[in-house]
Amino acid sequence: MSKDILVPYVLHGGDYNPDQWIDCKQIWDEDMRLMKQAHINTMTVGVFSWATLEPSENEYDFSFLDEIIDKIDKNGGKVILATPSGARPRWLAEKYPEVLRVNKNETRDHYHERHNHCFTSPIYRQKVAQIDEALAKRYGNHKAVIAWHVSNEYGGECYCDLCKKAFQDYLKEKYQTVENMNKAYWATFWSHQYTSFSQVEIPVISDVTLKALLVDWRRFVTKQTIEFMNVEISALRKYSDLPTTINMMGEFNDLDYFKFGEHIDYVSWDNYPEWHSPNHLHEAIKSAFWNDLFRSIKHKPFLLMESAPGQINWRAVNKLKRPGMDKLASMQSVAHGSNSVMYFQFRKSRGASEKFHGAVVDHVGTSETRVFNVVKDICITLEKISDVVTTYPQKARVAIVYDWENKWALDFAQGFKIPHNYNHDIYKYYSVLWQKGVACDVVNEDSDISSYDLVIAPMVYMAKQDFVNKLVSYVENGGTLYATYMLSTVNETDLCYLNGIPANELKNVFGVLYEETDSLYDEDLVKINYQGKEFCAKDICERIHAGNATVLATYGSEFYKGEPAFTVNCYKQGRAYYQAFRDDGEFSACAISKILQDLSISGAIINATLPTGVTAHVRQSDKIKYLFVENYSDSAVTVNLDGVYTNVDTSTQDDVAQLNPFEVKIYKQVK
Ligand code: GLA
Ligand code: ZN
Repeated sequence: MSKDILVPYVLHGGDYNPDQWIDCKQIWDEDMRLMKQAHINTMTVGVFSWATLEPSENEYDFSFLDEIIDKIDKNGGKVILATPSGARPRWLAEKYPEVLRVNKNETRDHYHERHNHCFTSPIYRQKVAQIDEALAKRYGNHKAVIAWHVSNEYGGECYCDLCKKAFQDYLKEKYQTVENMNKAYWATFWSHQYTSFSQVEIPVISDVTLKALLVDWRRFVTKQTIEFMNVEISALRKYSDLPTTINMMGEFNDLDYFKFGEHIDYVSWDNYPEWHSPNHLHEAIKSAFWNDLFRSIKHKPFLLMESAPGQINWRAVNKLKRPGMDKLASMQSVAHGSNSVMYFQFRKSRGASEKFHGAVVDHVGTSETRVFNVVKDICITLEKISDVVTTYPQKARVAIVYDWENKWALDFAQGFKIPHNYNHDIYKYYSVLWQKGVACDVVNEDSDISSYDLVIAPMVYMAKQDFVNKLVSYVENGGTLYATYMLSTVNETDLCYLNGIPANELKNVFGVLYEETDSLYDEDLVKINYQGKEFCAKDICERIHAGNATVLATYGSEFYKGEPAFTVNCYKQGRAYYQAFRDDGEFSACAISKILQDLSISGAIINATLPTGVTAHVRQSDKIKYLFVENYSDSAVTVNLDGVYTNVDTSTQDDVAQLNPFEVKIYKQVK
């Protein structure tokens, strides 16, 4: 059973690093005053404090944390307490060099930066468990502490001998015999058979021929990171029952985050979109997608753990957020199910890497800044919608499949059109839903998909046998499935399905048989004829044969002119659509819109057509409903609502939303 954070309001605050100001404690008191003034109620403390807490081996000094947690408590605030494993003290690396990561060139890293330790090292695990346990013992029952922020942005991989051995053991457990592994990897190819597990090297360095080995390495890194995380959680659990969370990263390729869900109580994530860039709108859609994905991991409210108040410092161009954007970005997460708006960080660092990263309190040290007042304004709105934490986003009737293992397999696959642009395709389909304000969950191949009316499955190249069966029974039982090119090309060890693609029974579900793929240069466009109109295909055009399927669109040029490009098949109680080509967004918007209409799936504002760049989301309970109307465009817009709502900021009764550029409006109805 997953544990909950039991506070009746939205958490608002952020990373707070008072140990950086330990020599001028008057700043700590000033921080408390400013925190109150900004209506901030929660601080994430101790993320990078290991060297202050344990200045030399086994010698602890908790005085700074004692003082800070008490100050926050007296100030009426809550604390999310971090374990400090994201960056280790110098003494630790000096005494135990094995904690330092070995890089791809098989050399051990120097002590540098952070997030760079070996997850397998028994010493690192032991030292981390020791400090975590001490923290849990000391603060695990403090009334101000509400959750554990375990480590920071887990990620990365290590190529040391300990990791290599652990990888070999993982493969041995998985395949039992080398013969099984050789078969699974098709290792006869180029004479790459293994005769013992001890011959396996970490694939980046040596055997990249065997694509399935690469996918297994990524699976192993996920497993090993979870194992490391569980060492931390077990240490905390010796003394503390508080909920745990880890801060994940959007569009992070290296870990299969779905697998972490069952081990933690909350998913949280750090979100830094490139607002006001040439891809601004795309960034809004991407950010919405990741909010949905992170919510879907546990199907419960998540936490926005980090976001930038104002600008960031680590891109080549770090634009200021235009008026409205901070609030809009914050409320986007709340609209998608976040019960927090947290920032990196509260007070701007004076030196080192992040001294120019936006913070609530700038170097000037006062509340007289634009950003401070923007943050304060967000807080005031969050206080007005405290009971949003009793609600949950509207039940999604649509799910989109995003699967890391499939993504990795595609990344390594040679063939078709490279790069394979999986994420890009995912965002393309997601954007159709977003632009209509249609609620959507994000699922992977292991998820239960039976409750959705529509499942969109772009580029499911690696379809595990279980997923193939799941898709079959989903359609059999009345689901509408929309799949695209490459569907079920290989199994989970990257072996091509034989006897025709789509694999096995899916051939009958879709009523099509794949024959070959034309891969196109960027300049090449192929015509598509659909509903009396002409659309464009690019990059990838599959030649398929429609058996039982009805052909809805055909190719309009090339030697395959007239052949099926888009089909639908009624199978038992459901329907299966197959899009055999990549489009530039126009075709998929048209096709998906028609299906949504057929299934009577509406957006958050019933019967509304939202202007470009505007979306809407609902969070509700059986008692109340919140409607978030979000304008990401740089034009003022008007949106007719589907009833009369109370505007939470102005308390007016509105049935029309007038939004400035980058403005969000939040409405409430009591049911
Ligand atoms: C990450 C880290 C933070 C900080 C921010 C800056 O999300 O977790 O410690 O470095 O980036 O954007
Ligand atoms: Zn290692």
